[in-house]
Amino acid sequence: MAQTRRVVLASRPVGEPKPSDFRIEDYTPPVPGNGEVLLRTIWLSLDPYMRGRMSDGPSYATPVQVDGVMEGGTVSEVIASNNPGFAKGDIVLSRAGWQTHAISDGRGLGKIDPALAPVSTAVGVLGMPGMTAYTGLLDIGKPRAGETVVVAAASGAVGSAVGQIAKIKGARAVGIAGGKDKCEHVKHELGFDECLDHRDPHLAAKLKEACPKGIDVYFENVGGAVWDAVSPLLNDFARIPVCGLIAQYNMTELPGGPDRTPQLFRQVLTKRLTIRGFIVRDFADQAEAFGRDVSAWLQQGKIKYKEDVVEGSGSFPAAGHLTRP
Ligand SMILES: NC(=O)c1ccc[n+]([C@@H]2O[C@H](COP(=O)([O-])OP(=O)(O)OC[C@H]3O[C@@H](n4cnc5c(N)ncnc54)[C@H](OP(=O)(O)O)[C@@H]3O)[C@@H](O)[C@H]2O)c1
Repeated sequence: MAQTRRVVLASRPVGEPKPSDFRIEDYTPPVPGNGEVLLRTIWLSLDPYMRGRMSDGPSYATPVQVDGVMEGGTVSEVIASNNPGFAKGDIVLSRAGWQTHAISDGRGLGKIDPALAPVSTAVGVLGMPGMTAYTGLLDIGKPRAGETVVVAAASGAVGSAVGQIAKIKGARAVGIAGGKDKCEHVKHELGFDECLDHRDPHLAAKLKEACPKGIDVYFENVGGAVWDAVSPLLNDFARIPVCGLIAQYNMTELPGGPDRTPQLFRQVLTKRLTIRGFIVRDFADQAEAFGRDVSAWLQQGKIKYKEDVVEGSGSFPAAGHLTRP
């Protein structure tokens, strides 16, 4: 059998991960037991979420243990099988992690049809990143024809799909990416209407120019300075799928000071919060239901109220809620 190698987390990175936070090890080739398969990794996807798995702070996911194999989605080939569900030669989507070979009991493995597309796409545009783009944009962003969709990390696995799906839905797609080459790729090969460099000191002004009708959907992948450029351009009823905050992932702590946006966005993302502003008149069509329900609840004693009454028009300025001239 070919050499078996794995990458383990040697220490928890502080700030940007360094090569010394990892250790490459040779290991004894694993032997599949009853009901198990032996997998050979063909493709390993390296994704931003892995930075979170390297830390043991509060998270929606369990961290990788120090000395443990780094986690990761793989496209793997079954090279030996004692499991009737899988045959030698099957190509599967697995979570084998950063290693050349792994044992699986078959749970969680998904067969990949190589006739559908190159198998690497199972961890890319047809896999988790593609599905992130598709669901976040269509379920939360809900772009409509003629609207403007902005996405950062636009050349990345998620962002590249977001902008292209936005175009398919008839929206204007504006990407933000790092550097000229990435921006050219996003604009000329992926077909976005515009792409801007997040390192450009005039990003805010250029984004305003690129979005003459404002922004209806901002697909948040990044946070930080990009958010600062986007937020003044948001239209009424804009939607913001908060997918990722990559600008924060290597921070040892979130920035302090009166601007709590980074903390808020982290909460929104990790706890999947729904925050939506509204003005009561947006719901004028619910006036009848409101009157019916609340008067019934009052009569049933399910809602109680207390009125703070002040008599006399001279008392208006200092009065509470209810006054009688
Ligand atoms: N919520 C979910 O379920 C879910 C699932 C998948 C991914 N995500 C999130 O989606 C985002 C994109 O993931 P991906 O897989 O598409 O990433 P990717 O392909 O690895 O691309 C990441 C991109 O982020 C850009 N970037 C890094 N730091 C930045 C900064 N400070 N400002 C602006 N851009 C920055 C980099 O561009 P440059 O280096 O060129 O600047 C890089 O191209 C990440 O935040 C990820 O965590 C969320």
